[in-house]
Amino acid sequence: MLDGDTVVATLEAERRQGASDDELMETAVREIEASEDDYDWVGIYLLEDDEEHLVLHEFVGEPTEHDRIEVGVGVCGTAVARGEDINVPDVTEVENYLACSPHTRSEIVVLIRDPDGGRIFGQLDLDSDRREAFGERDRRELRKVADWLARLFE
Ligand code: SME
Repeated sequence: MLDGDTVVATLEAERRQGASDDELMETAVREIEASEDDYDWVGIYLLEDDEEHLVLHEFVGEPTEHDRIEVGVGVCGTAVARGEDINVPDVTEVENYLACSPHTRSEIVVLIRDPDGGRIFGQLDLDSDRREAFGERDRRELRKVADWLARLFE
């Protein structure tokens, strides 16, 4: 079961030992993915190109062709355009959806942003092969990790 505080404690310890931002993001996606059987793909996209595109950085799971997504496109780009986290219980019901894997059934995007809810730096994106895999508890624990990661970009 994902415990955001445990992931944050691991990240803090690695940072004290001098880990780079990329290494910290890699640890974050690895620890999150390992915490739940239903988390089949976990990645971090960061806003780049004058904040017009999301670019995939670290991820665990199958490689995806969607390593660069325009703001406003797909679940990922829509979360940025709306400025809010998105939980999709059933991806087959979303028109504006970019399929990374034919097995994916549900998806959650949690924004990495200033703690005051201001500037958006990127997002945690999770896919599951199970319908309705993500709930409020997942979002809450993922938010703890996202808020910690936001400090790397402030
Ligand atoms: N499904 C996402 C694209 C990213 S993959 O899930 C890794 C979307 O619709 O934006």
